[in-house]
Amino acid sequence: MKAWRIQFLCFLVFGAAVQYVTSVEEELADSIFGNFLDPLNDLFQHKDGINETIAKFSLRKPSYPDDDICYIIPGNPDSLNACSFNSTSKTFLVIHGWTVSGMFESWVSQLVEALYNREQTANVIVVDWLSSAQNHYVIAAQKTKAVGREIARFIDWIEETTHLPLENIHLIGYSLGAHVAGFAGSHATNKVGRITGLDPAGPDFEGEHEHKRLSPDDAYFVDVLHTFTRGSLGLSIGIQQPVGHVDIYPNGGSFQPGCNLRGALEKIANFGLFAITDAVKCEHERSVHLFIDSLLNKQEPAKAYRCGSNDIFNRGMCLSCRKGRCNTVGYDISKVRKARNVQMYTRTRASMPFRVYHYQLKIHFSSKVNRSEMEPSLTVSLYGTKGETENLQLKLKEKIATNKTHSFLLVTEKDIGDLLMLKFKWEETNSWSASSMLKMVSSWWSGDSESSDMEVHKIRIRAGESQQKLVFCVKDPEVHTLTQEITFVRCQDSWKKNPKRVSLEKH
Ligand SMILES: *[C@@H]1O[C@H](CO)[C@@H](O)[C@H](O)[C@H]1NC(C)=O
Ligand SMILES: *[C@@H]1O[C@H](CO)[C@@H](O)[C@H](O)[C@H]1NC(C)=O
Ligand SMILES: *[C@@H]1O[C@H](CO)[C@@H](O)[C@H](O)[C@H]1NC(C)=O
Ligand SMILES: *[C@@H]1O[C@H](CO)[C@@H](O)[C@H](O)[C@H]1NC(C)=O
Repeated sequence: MKAWRIQFLCFLVFGAAVQYVTSVEEELADSIFGNFLDPLNDLFQHKDGINETIAKFSLRKPSYPDDDICYIIPGNPDSLNACSFNSTSKTFLVIHGWTVSGMFESWVSQLVEALYNREQTANVIVVDWLSSAQNHYVIAAQKTKAVGREIARFIDWIEETTHLPLENIHLIGYSLGAHVAGFAGSHATNKVGRITGLDPAGPDFEGEHEHKRLSPDDAYFVDVLHTFTRGSLGLSIGIQQPVGHVDIYPNGGSFQPGCNLRGALEKIANFGLFAITDAVKCEHERSVHLFIDSLLNKQEPAKAYRCGSNDIFNRGMCLSCRKGRCNTVGYDISKVRKARNVQMYTRTRASMPFRVYHYQLKIHFSSKVNRSEMEPSLTVSLYGTKGETENLQLKLKEKIATNKTHSFLLVTEKDIGDLLMLKFKWEETNSWSASSMLKMVSSWWSGDSESSDMEVHKIRIRAGESQQKLVFCVKDPEVHTLTQEITFVRCQDSWKKNPKRVSLEKH
């Protein structure tokens, strides 16, 4: 019963992502009375013979990243020569995921092109298991193991035939393909160098035993990008749990910028579930484009930071690179192998190049009188040696309390160089006008209106990308109440030389 339900829900979600919707009712009827019943037939009809081949290995060429012009046939050494397989260079196996159309999605050729762009002499092999992947999701998910086994036999054969070092083999799997890569790695006689899981599929794999999904044991190094780990109908399209040595959750692993989720939600409100379509695909597939970005924009690598949770990361508290706490997103990641999974976070732009610049702002709010907690709107403008970004909103994760240091995460899309100056603005939001009015009245009544204001004397900043730590002081000491925009400049003397001030800023 449970399996049925999951099957149905998966169909709804995945099916919606690719099918062309002409009429909602038509589709609904079709899905419930037509396709919905198909999986059962499939279950009984598709019993794989042990020797049945279900994967094909197409060695693509840099000049034709889109075309399958040469297949390597396991057991046939001539096919290696015919396809000009180079046994001394790196070999990539690109493994697609679930499909309804039965065709390669457009990212496949984009990834092939990007791999050749970076590694000109590489062998980029696209694994074609479309015939199995176009079954209903649950069936396709069940086939991942058999496909993985077949890839493992292919790897064993190629190792035997060409004596290529296995550390040169890098499997890159998207969605269900990530688990296929995992099975391939675990069934190969010797360990392959690396598996990259691009938003590994969640349904049917989440919470499963290590042997039944992608796991760190499957290769010498396993790295994973999670881009759609949000529950939809109680299921997450991408797997939420960490499954590699290093698991990176860009933008918390959900809600990727530029994927127009709001638009999608509006559509869902109007047209129901089938409208999820583009947003789902956009966020799930973002993992692939982040990886492509890392291949193409080597000089602008995005950084990810180890953190206990996305919530803590969003407070800016994890921007340290000490002791391997940060790493490079994508192809150039450092192969850090710890006993436990390392979870890392990063923010991104909405399009390529995806990298952003992360800053932690630590601000101490003080006041002579105890003010009730507030939710002001806080705006910051940053000015650096290479440029500026103005009017960035600081996201409050908790209300502002008197005499407390708050930490914020701020990101800029462009490199502004070394920070020189910043401006800070505090505005009471509407919801607080009544209570702040009350405050004003009461402080007026106590004849203490000036000193009741919240003050900020300095702002401490840590830049994630440059690892610079800076302290900013109020430029004009006369003006530090927050009723107007305040300008901060680098402090004259280092805070380290002034222990008295440090003690004021304890956490
Ligand atoms: C699979 O192949 C092996 C030898 O390669 C053969 O002995 C076996 O009978 C085959 N099995 C099936 C189901 O065809
Ligand atoms: C094979 O790859 C190696 C290094 O990756 C390179 O030096 C060599 O030129 C390549 N051979 C051919 C025929 O492309
Ligand atoms: C906040 O700290 C300042 C400086 O230590 C002190 O003068 C002030 O009374 C404190 N405010 C409250 C509400 O405790
Ligand atoms: C300030 O007020 C809050 C509640 O509004 C209270 O929890 C806190 O203890 C007070 N702090 C001081 C120093 O009076």
